[in-house]
Parts: sequence; C-alpha cells; structure tokens
Amino acid sequence: MRSKSSYICSECGYKSPKWLGKCPGCGNWNTLNETIETPAPASASARKSTPVKSSFNRPAQLGSVKYNNDTRFSTGMRELDRVLGGGVVNGELILVGGDPGIGKSTLLLQICENTGKTKKILYVSGEESSAQIKLRAERLGVQSENLYLLSETDVETILEAITDTKPDIVIIDSIQTMHIEAIASASGSVPQVRETTNAFMRIAKSMGISMFIVGHVTKDGALAGPRVLEHMVDCVLYFEGDRQLSFRILRAVKNRFGSTNEIGVFEMRDKGLAEVANPSKTLLEGRPENISGSAIVCAMEGTRGILAEIQALVTPTGFGNPRRMSSGIDLNRVLLLIAVLEKRARMNLSNSDVYINVAGGLRIDETAVDLGICAAIAASQADIALPADMIFIGEVGLGGELRSVSQIEKRLTEAANLGFKTAIAPKQSLRGAKVPDGIKVFGVRTISETMKLFRG
Ligand code: TYD
Ligand code: MG
Repeated sequence: MRSKSSYICSECGYKSPKWLGKCPGCGNWNTLNETIETPAPASASARKSTPVKSSFNRPAQLGSVKYNNDTRFSTGMRELDRVLGGGVVNGELILVGGDPGIGKSTLLLQICENTGKTKKILYVSGEESSAQIKLRAERLGVQSENLYLLSETDVETILEAITDTKPDIVIIDSIQTMHIEAIASASGSVPQVRETTNAFMRIAKSMGISMFIVGHVTKDGALAGPRVLEHMVDCVLYFEGDRQLSFRILRAVKNRFGSTNEIGVFEMRDKGLAEVANPSKTLLEGRPENISGSAIVCAMEGTRGILAEIQALVTPTGFGNPRRMSSGIDLNRVLLLIAVLEKRARMNLSNSDVYINVAGGLRIDETAVDLGICAAIAASQADIALPADMIFIGEVGLGGELRSVSQIEKRLTEAANLGFKTAIAPKQSLRGAKVPDGIKVFGVRTISETMKLFRG
C-alpha cells in the first residue's frame, strides 16, 4: 500500500494532485493544503459495515414501500422538535454547528434527560472527560440512567462501543476531535472529517441510530470541512447568537425530514438553556422608551411571527465618506433603502453615518421589515421617538412604493397579542384581510406617505 500526497481544499474539500493557488471548487485562495493520503485498509470497520444488502437493493414501486409511522420521537424540547420538523427521525444524522461556547454541548446534554426516559443514549466526547460531563450534567439536572458517557477520540474504539452498547441515540462531540488511525492527516482536516462522518453515518444507518454530530465553525462562520459534511447528513442545524447576549437561535439550513424555515429560540441561563416560547415578548422586553430611531417590525420565521426592534442611529459624518453599518440585516438592503429614502422621500443622508442594529442579536432576512428600517432611519434623523405601540410592516420598492407582504393577518395578530395599538402596512395587503381586534391599521401606498403620517 503506497501513500500518496494530494492537495485538498480546507473550505470545500476539492482535491487536486498538484498545488494550486486558487481552489477551482470554491474559488478561495490559499486553501489547498498538502495531505498524505494512506488508503484505508479494506478491513477497516468503516468499510466493513456497508448497510445495503443486495437483496434490499431492488427498485420498489412507490405504493409498496412501507414505512413506520412512529419513526419520530420528541427530544422533550419543543423548540428543537419544531426545527427538526416535529422530532427526531430514527436513523437520522443531525449536524449541529455553531461557534465555540454557544451552547451545543449544553443543548445536547439537556435533551438526554427527556429522551433518556425511553431511549439509550451514548454521549461521546472528544473534548471533555467523563467527569467534566458528569459535573455539567449535574448542574443541568440530567440524571438519566440510560445515559452512557465515553471520552474518546479514536473512531475504531467508538464504533466498537456503539456496537457493544447498542444505543438508540449517539452524540458525537465534536467531529473535529475524532480521528481514524489509518488516515495520516491531523484531526479536523478534511479527509479526517469526511471519513469519520462516513464511518458514523454507516453505523447509524445500519443500526437505525439517531445521531447528533457537533461541528465547530470556522472564523467565517461556515462549518469546518463544510460542504463535505453537509452532503452526508440528513439535517444541518446552526446554533447562533451573540455570546454576550443570552439569546440563542437554532436554525435548520438543511432538513431531509422537514422544512428549513423554522427557528427555535433559547435563552442561556445559569441552569442551561431554557426554551423561549414567546420570543417576541422576550425580545421586546427592556426596550427603552422615548428614544429616537427605534421601530418595531414583524418578521415571519416559518409559521410564526416574531416581533423585533430595529434600531437606527444617524449621526453627522466626521470627515470623508459617510459610514453605513448594519448588524442583523443585510448591509446591501440597508444601502438600497437609504438610496430610496434619499430619492423618493427627499431625505438627505449624504452627510450622515447610518448604523442599523436588530436588538437581541436577531438576524432578519425578510423584506417585510423594509418599512421598519426606513422608519427607524427617518426617526433617528429627525430625532423623534416613534409611538411605542406602533408596528411597521411592508416591503419598500425602488420606486418608493410599499409592496404587499405575505401572511399579513398573522403579523397583525402577533402584534395585537402583544398590545400594539397601531400598525402601518401596505394598502394592497389589507384588501380582504381580517384585522384583529384592538389594533388600528393605516394602509399606505408609498414611503413618502408614511413619512407624512408621523409628521402630521
Ligand atoms: P457549551 O455547551 O460548552 O458550548 P459549545 O459546546 O457550543 O462549545 O456552552 C458553554 C457556555 O455556556 C459557557 O460559556 C457557559 C455557558 N453556560 C451557562 O451559561 N449556563 C449553563 O448552565 C451551562 C452549562 C453553560
Ligand atoms: Mg462543547
């Protein structure tokens, strides 16, 4: 067996026999690293346990395919279940990504308490000792008798432990610490990550084990060895949020067993992660009153509306080019809205710095919050505080027109539930819409019409 060297992109896993400055796969520079590849021996258990037997491998008529209805089970955390599409599917491979310290290990340890009532769990950690995990489990109130701990990084040993223990759920924390002896490169490198995930996937599928794999993200926010991993697993969850703030948002970016537009909201407390069943209320708590440049919007995340506070700060530019900064909203969208405000609402922002922030560390990529962003900018420039019980809904077009948004009734209901009294919304969205009690809606057609509304 001869080992050969090749160059592998650390971003996308592209493989080349010679060194290249730019990766043809993903276009990044200086990402190809030399890797000595030793072909894994054919007897390695990773190869041995191919799940597909030839007798199963015949085309089947759709109608004759059988499946078990109760293949899903709950994690005991409704927020997590929702993101997964209604619970974990037996044999599902779930990748949980996120910055270090965001709470991945905490979340996975916490679900052990509930799932441990009916299922056997093996928690494999390559980062902490069993004693450390026990300590944390005690703090989180996890004391399931069905939870087994293993502090190990060698994949062969882990696979043996899995075959031995026959768990229903396996947690691998984290994939970057795992390694296969037969592969020469270091833990966390693309070949290691790919092969270890492969080995875990085989055993999960063949034994019907649901497996959670923790993956760390790189500085740019992508999973290390990203695309190679995302292809293989059934579900990719990202755990995000500001480490300084206590909010954590769980988002699915890929889900073979559900939709990807649901989010789960958690809060990090001293006893672990707590579910936030009413994120709007929590996000708006402690909102300063009578401060200029703050507007409330409603963004839809999956099936629910989430109210958020958009803050804008417009200050005179000291010298040079005006600065525009945005956190939580795409900067390009903010630049576009500033241009619309200048051209269509006759605002002059050419000598002003504009800063936009979504309170609570939330990230919104929905155009229905455009009007709120515009209102916040206008209010900050005019130095007026918008009414605290007013909400802004609407997409802003380049002509300064307000465009209709989807699910207007749901947004208005969420606002009414939280005690909002007035809403500004696109006129055409309101046609035929049922306005919930307790909220008065002003339908407007253009951005300049909106500006007049709170001037007069
Ligand atoms: P952790 O789950 O270890 O993060 P990850 O596995 O994603 O790297 O989370 C650790 C952080 O969470 C740490 O900074 C401390 C904080 N934390 C709490 O605030 N309360 C708790 O009950 C626990 C267990 C952790
Ligand atoms: Mg961890």
